[in-house]
Amino acid sequence: MQEKYNPLSRLLHWLIALLIFALFGVGLYMTGLADDDPARGNIYALHKATGFLVLWLVAFRIVWTALITRAPEPPAELPARDVKIQKAVIGVMYLLIIIVPLSGFLYSTFAGYPVNFYGLFEVPLIFDKNKELAEVFEEIHEVGVWVLMGFVALHMLGAIKHRLADPNGPTDVLKRML
Ligand code: HEM
Repeated sequence: MQEKYNPLSRLLHWLIALLIFALFGVGLYMTGLADDDPARGNIYALHKATGFLVLWLVAFRIVWTALITRAPEPPAELPARDVKIQKAVIGVMYLLIIIVPLSGFLYSTFAGYPVNFYGLFEVPLIFDKNKELAEVFEEIHEVGVWVLMGFVALHMLGAIKHRLADPNGPTDVLKRML
């Protein structure tokens, strides 16, 4: 019997995945809106608040799953090459799911716009306005999000490949996360 991820790690995995897909769609939509579109301000605020939430959820999941409870060991039947690829893809994804929301947050901060967390509180601006740095982090955010989506696609292809090759068998790693 394969060991599953613990329930909180599984919940966080799917919640973060859902929020990242939603933020990706909303991000593309909002940047296509006209400057005078009346919905623009609210959609940007929602994107920023939800992205800020993802940043904390990811930080918590890293501490919880990678450091405290530990991910289950890969199944012994899985070829060593697949384990190596999987570890590399996940490592890069962990980096990107920190870099993408953090760069969005720093872009907004250096542009002088604080994050309003769903009307509950405003995150203080921790740095002074800086146009050059705002542009750097805007670029990192925009490029990073596409690289992240590329790695998410690889990650999903890997899970689907193993499911199709060995449905419910020892190398069907997807079931550990379901
Ligand atoms: C995992 C989390 C996030 C994802 C997946 C995401 C995704 C995106 C995407 C796809 C875009 C459109 C990029 C383009 O122009 O092609 C975008 C833009 C933007 N994002 Fe995010 N975002 C995230 C987190 C954040 C956070 C935390 C903030 C700020 C607190 C933020 C602020 C912005 C802003 C201000 C823009 C507009 C950039 C512009 O006007 O050029 N994002 N985001």
